[in-house]
Amino acid sequence: MYEEYIEILKSRLNEKRFEHSLNVAKKAREIAVRYGADENKAYLAGLLHDICKNDSEEKMLQIFDKFGIILDNVQVVSKKLWHSIAGAAYIEHFLNISDKELLDSVRYHTTSRENATLMDKIIYIADFVSDERNFDGVDELRQALDESLELCYKNALSMSINVLSSEQCPIHADTFKAYNCVTL
Ligand SMILES: [Fe+2]
Ligand SMILES: [Fe+2]
Repeated sequence: MYEEYIEILKSRLNEKRFEHSLNVAKKAREIAVRYGADENKAYLAGLLHDICKNDSEEKMLQIFDKFGIILDNVQVVSKKLWHSIAGAAYIEHFLNISDKELLDSVRYHTTSRENATLMDKIIYIADFVSDERNFDGVDELRQALDESLELCYKNALSMSINVLSSEQCPIHADTFKAYNCVTL
């Protein structure tokens, strides 16, 4: 069922990113089972979330152009966000996947967004705590996830905001909106 997608990923991603994608898929499925979401959809979204990660900037700009995607000011300068925007468009138009929940979870896996869906949160979190991740604080995030999806999600957003601001990088408004609407 996933073989054709795994073959496509293998041809588009480097080894490290390919392994990461398999790990995120596995983690997304685990979280979906635990928190009552569609486990197959979570697995596929996890598998595909970084499908444009190794694309050149030119290639991603071509995708934006082809599908009429206009970047806002923060997106223009935050090139790390491009692969999530391009990825969702790629999956929709080249892989012919039309499931909005899946497409949105890929689209917002970098910034999250206001009123994120359960699937958005699952992919956002799975990307943080997949098995190969070993940054400072990852174990605390994993512990938070055992306790509550919302707690882990809020902590991950907070970590992301802290890291970006400490590096004096722009922070997309979607991330602040996501953070502000979590109710714990
Ligand atoms: Fe990503
Ligand atoms: Fe990722």
